[in-house]
Amino acid sequence: MSEETIQNVDEMSLKPLAIEGKLPLKAVGIENLREANPKHLPPHRYIHPWFARRPTPASRLAILASVLPKETNTDDLLRWMQIGPKEGVEGKSISEYVENKKANEDSRNGNLEEHYRYPRPFTSSPTGVELEKFHDTLRKYWDGELPKVIDPTAGGGVIPFESLRYGLPTKANELNPVPSVILKVVLEYASEVGTLQSELDYWGEKINNQAKENTKEFFPSCEAGQIPDCYVCTYDITCSSCGTDIPLVPKWWIRTRKSADKVTAKPVIEDDGSISYECLINPNESDFDEFDPGEGTVSRGGNAQCLNCDIVMESDNVKEALREGNFKYDIYAVRYLSNDGSYGFRAPKKTDFEALRHADRIIQSDFKLSTLLNGEIPEGEKTSEPRTYGITQWRDMYSPRQLVAHYELRKVVQQYKPEIYSKYSNKTAEAILSLITLSCSKLLDRNSRLSDWDTSKGYPNPLFKGKNLGFKRSFTDNNIFVGGIDFLSQLDKVCKSYEELCSYIPEKAEQGKVTSLDAANLPYNDCELQAVVTDPPYYSSIMYAELSDIFYVWMREYLGDVFPDLFNSELTNKDNEAVANPSRFENVAGDSSSKRKMANKYYEQKMSDIFSELYRVLETGGVMTVMFTHKETDAWDTLTMSLINSGFIITSTHPITSEMPQRAGMRTSASADSTLLLTGRKPHKERNPENTTPSLWSDVKSDTRTAAKEAARDLIDSGLSLTKTDVIISAFGPTLRVFADAYPVVDDEDNEVAPRRALKEAREAVTQVLVDEYLEAEGIDELDDVTEWYILCWLVHESETFSYDEGHQLGLGIGVDIDEIKRSTKTWRKSRGDISLRGHTDRVQNINEKPEDRSSRIPVNPDDLSFSLALDKVHAAMHIYDVRGESACCDWLRERNFDTDPTFKSTLKALLQVLPHDHDDWDLARDLAAGRTRDVLNLEFSPNVFADENSETKQSKLGDH
Ligand SMILES: C[S@@+](CC[C@H](N)C(=O)[O-])C[C@H]1O[C@@H](n2cnc3c(N)ncnc32)[C@H](O)[C@@H]1O
Ligand SMILES: [Zn+2]
Repeated sequence: MSEETIQNVDEMSLKPLAIEGKLPLKAVGIENLREANPKHLPPHRYIHPWFARRPTPASRLAILASVLPKETNTDDLLRWMQIGPKEGVEGKSISEYVENKKANEDSRNGNLEEHYRYPRPFTSSPTGVELEKFHDTLRKYWDGELPKVIDPTAGGGVIPFESLRYGLPTKANELNPVPSVILKVVLEYASEVGTLQSELDYWGEKINNQAKENTKEFFPSCEAGQIPDCYVCTYDITCSSCGTDIPLVPKWWIRTRKSADKVTAKPVIEDDGSISYECLINPNESDFDEFDPGEGTVSRGGNAQCLNCDIVMESDNVKEALREGNFKYDIYAVRYLSNDGSYGFRAPKKTDFEALRHADRIIQSDFKLSTLLNGEIPEGEKTSEPRTYGITQWRDMYSPRQLVAHYELRKVVQQYKPEIYSKYSNKTAEAILSLITLSCSKLLDRNSRLSDWDTSKGYPNPLFKGKNLGFKRSFTDNNIFVGGIDFLSQLDKVCKSYEELCSYIPEKAEQGKVTSLDAANLPYNDCELQAVVTDPPYYSSIMYAELSDIFYVWMREYLGDVFPDLFNSELTNKDNEAVANPSRFENVAGDSSSKRKMANKYYEQKMSDIFSELYRVLETGGVMTVMFTHKETDAWDTLTMSLINSGFIITSTHPITSEMPQRAGMRTSASADSTLLLTGRKPHKERNPENTTPSLWSDVKSDTRTAAKEAARDLIDSGLSLTKTDVIISAFGPTLRVFADAYPVVDDEDNEVAPRRALKEAREAVTQVLVDEYLEAEGIDELDDVTEWYILCWLVHESETFSYDEGHQLGLGIGVDIDEIKRSTKTWRKSRGDISLRGHTDRVQNINEKPEDRSSRIPVNPDDLSFSLALDKVHAAMHIYDVRGESACCDWLRERNFDTDPTFKSTLKALLQVLPHDHDDWDLARDLAAGRTRDVLNLEFSPNVFADENSETKQSKLGDH
């Protein structure tokens, strides 16, 4: 960041903070990735499911660097962050030490911890001595007091927990009651109540024994010494042709994992036309003669095939049967726990079905059960699918036995409540009941009709695998008082993670304060706080409120009387939620595009209101650091406008690698996705829009380009393992700073210019830097726009698939409307809302077919002598080489004079450098650029162009950690 070049008077008068200087981003990025070891994750992760939890090192850095003075030594900062071995780093800086350890990870002896010689930072808190020094430093900077830190949208609480761990007066706010309970546990109880191990052991045992006794008739043994643990269930509908039951099973496999016995269910048609099941353990080849366990009765599209008459029932009819309740619950395998503690599988028996019917009868005859959770599930953006299958009330999310089991558990907890209150202080009783409730709520996650069966592990899946609620055709019905996923095992997990959290809190820590309000309306006085560190929601990325209702309705049953204020509404608050949820505008908007627009507008206004509120509660000179992972230009535009409008001045941005990419095709890449830390300050002198002279866009434009280019070059040289996309996004920060300093900005006609204009400039400028840095090909910008766009997409995204917005913006930068060229050029297609680039096989007609037999929808005809796009020439050449061989290809190239065509050569050379080496087109590009075709084309390429992706070449420079 070019700090010296962009200073304004306000900023100079603010005492600078560490986050406004150089940060050890690479070392912290390495720690973020090291944290993601699925064998032992930070304890918050086991307390209860919540969305978008951030890594500890990034959160810790955001907090510490936001409150420490700029002159803080980097090694001190890292030591305070518990990064680096306590015994010292042998003359190196800690950053160098960590980077070196990362570079030598593959050649290490022993495990990672032994290799690094210090534990992962989330497991260490600062020592008393470190804390004292840290606090002294802070007091000097913050006028004798420790800075008060708030996270206004705290979710699962990673940020405020870190703040608390450093002994800072910490406030956490969160609108949604589900994470609010988590926050109470993590912040209030962990710091005020402390260990509860023996209390939870005692009450857990009592509750479990009672609930188990009350429900044993629903989980009959069937075999001596075995207790059923999971029933693998599905729905039977009636075949419209022969009347036989059709179970809706996607696959008959029950467990395929290599390290255990393989298990499959096998359907059998009995003489009376009914279906029964066998259970095959380690089936033989002969078992598969006429049976393929991978082929169930339902297709992906939802059609169902009758096992008896083979007729296929259309998915709409299947759906209708389910919606109308014309189905029976069926069990096709049972997992059981043996007396010796081992698990096995068996076929379902008559008694299993009788127990299921018994649960159904009990529900009909018990008033409380028959009306439990009968509230309507509202239409939602990500929660509507189950409704279309007849799941319209919350109770419908459960099979009869699931409902009875969850209800009995809740009844027993309710029964012990008075005793718990009588034995402990109110606060301790609240803590015990909250932890018990979280355990019961965790049980819902793997015991509902939306929790399907993992056929690989042979185990129930959680109900949220993505960010939506989806209907499942087969599901698991568990004995929640016995076996792998029972009440005691969940309580044990919750308890362990709570105890671990307690152990991380320093002795003299202040108590964390939790509020459950709209962040746009906080209960703090003007100028009361010093620092905000927040990870806000992003547009429609996750619909927190509607997704969490499934937990909320049950938590309300458990805790409605414990926290009446928190659970006073029937469902979670969607009206004040800062998300862009189109379904909220269903009845006001005319069509789906206006629904989306209204939702976006609502979100933008809400974020503005939140930032204004944060501005109000911050003291002058106070700081706000926003953690931001969103890549869409609009999100940046909104963020900047809300920050500027609320009065903040943007003082720094930093990219920090935080997780391995989730996007398809990127998982093996050496680069990681990053989180941006964007910092703003509350200036001494408020900006008065009336007195501000607008800047001219023509002046600001070139400054934004310069700032973006400088930032990009710095980032490329920094050695951070950023993806190229993240280099672009990271350059947005300095660009926005220029924009914010010049704000308001107007064009020649005096119209106000939005930040997205500056971001567009930045994107173009940085793309140019990337081309200069990574492409050894002349004349790319002289190629036709479509070919240029295609090459740049591969260069920047290093992947076939990437976000539509990014591809669209890249196109706009060079004058291509990608929607306009989609059909005519077939260079890309939409794949789940993303862009997927097409290779030559999708674009070139098969020359071995007669012209009249070829599909006219395929745009490139290899018989043509001239082509409209340079890309068409190279793709056609690839096809000829592939199907006709080298010699015919030489003739084909000569006939078209490609030996003297610079556009052909630049395109081929560029593709060689940008295509991933496992792409078929790369092999063909390499073949064309070698051997006889090379001679024909008269090519002279340097070895870099063919370089191995993993070697230290220009193309791999960004991915070298
Ligand atoms: C990205 S998540 C925070 C995740 C958190 N940093 C963590 O690591 O667990 C954003 C949170 O903002 C909350 N939220 C949404 N609208 C809000 C509002 N108006 N006021 C307060 N919180 C809100 C959501 O419920 C969600 O939990
Ligand atoms: Zn049939």
